[in-house]
This record gives sequence, C-alpha cells and structure tokens, in this order.
Amino acid sequence: MKIGIFDSGVGGITVLKEALNQLPGMEYIYYADTINVPYGTKPKENVKKYIFKVVEFLNDKNIDALIIACNTATSIAIKDLRERYDFPIIGMEPALKPAIESSDNRKVIVTATNLTLQEKKFNDLVTKLNSWNIVEPLPLPKLVEYAESFIFDKNIILPYLKKQFEKFNLEEYGTVVLGCTHFPYYKEYFKEVLPKDIDIIDGNYGTIKNLKNILNIKEKKDQKESKITFYISGREDKEELKKYLNILNK
Ligand code: DGL
Repeated sequence: MKIGIFDSGVGGITVLKEALNQLPGMEYIYYADTINVPYGTKPKENVKKYIFKVVEFLNDKNIDALIIACNTATSIAIKDLRERYDFPIIGMEPALKPAIESSDNRKVIVTATNLTLQEKKFNDLVTKLNSWNIVEPLPLPKLVEYAESFIFDKNIILPYLKKQFEKFNLEEYGTVVLGCTHFPYYKEYFKEVLPKDIDIIDGNYGTIKNLKNILNIKEKKDQKESKITFYISGREDKEELKKYLNILNK
C-alpha cells in the first residue's frame, strides 16, 4: 500500500518515524515543501495553493492514502482536499482533548504555528471542548526555522524556549501540547525547561493509530521493510531524510 505524507518541510518526518514504528511494510512517499517553508507565518491563500500543488504531485504517484503531517495545512485545507480526492486523508490538529484529560484540572498551553492558532478549526475545537478558560495559545515560529536549518544546539534552543515560557505561571499548568510537527524534535528541551509534573503531548501516535483504523490494518507486519521515497520540493533526496531520522533516533 502506498501512503503519501507531506509537510511544509522536515516536521512531518517526526510523523513518518511514528508510521515506520507502528505501520512498517508500507511504501511511504514523503514530500517536504521546503521551497515554501514556513507555512505558519504566510497568508492562508498562498499556503493553500502550495498545498494543492503538493497533493497533486502525490496524487500523480497513485497513493492509496494521504497523511497531512502538518497541523497548519490540515487546518486550512483538509476540507477542500477531501472534496477533491477520493483516497482517505488523515489530518493533524493540536491534541487538545487528551491534553485536557491529562491536565489534572490545571490549564493547558497549546504551542503551534501562528496560522494554526488563528484558524477557525482550532478555535472551534476550543469552543467544542468548552475550554476557553483553561487554554493558552503559544506560537513558536522559531522552532520551525531552527529545525529547517538543522539547528539542534542546546545553547540556542534552551534560551529560546525559556524566554517563551517566561510569561506563564507554570504552576497553574498541567499539560503542554506540541501542535506543530516540527516541535517533537525538541521534546527533550521542552522537558528541561518545564516543571517535571507538566505532561508534554503531541499528536503523532494518535495520527498513525487513526490511519491504521481507517485502513483497517490490525496486526503489525514487522517482517516486511518499509520503502521510503523522499522528495524535497519535487527533487528526490536520501541524505536529508537520513540526517533528520538520526536526530530522532538519538
Ligand atoms: N509542521 C507544520 C505544522 O505542523 C508547519 C510549520 C510551518 O511551516 O510553519 O504546523
């Protein structure tokens, strides 16, 4: 089975990694729209055009299902994409429900891109969960830039994160949501900056679980190797993917 997966850049590799764990033996075609990254700070209409180009590229590869490994792209385009294409499309959104459940009646910080946090999809979700009084949004656009530039240096990331969380009285919070697929690269740094009793949640595990349900795949086919083809804005590449998977395997 051929599964298309895309992100504005390398963030979706954190989702691909989870797919390789939970769902090996598939053929994955990953598209990093690096020429247009970041999505999260650009006008919505432009980003929508980029997304449609990417999905058309993947459609030409005859994929059987698509993972939008990008919260930003999901929030602005999933509805239109589902109308246009027949294959199953799995999107991502900040994991707010599990975050509230695990927050022990304390508040929740949702980190994501500016676009995701502004978009109707996220705001509707907060309303649906009746959680406006406990949710604090926090855009972290620099982490997208850092990940794209392969910057994982503690001396750069820690001060940035410390500064961003400075404005919160962290004792009031139970959970921090990583609502952008670029952020799990920095999970250990989040842990270092946040008090021990704050849970850090991302949507990667749930997304692949969802994909398995939708495709009705029950058992893990460990015997078979996955096949991955990696494209950077239309050009096939192997080295970039390896570099980033190594960071996640550390
Ligand atoms: N990785 C993306 C997300 O999950 C978008 C990052 C960006 O391009 O701004 O939202």
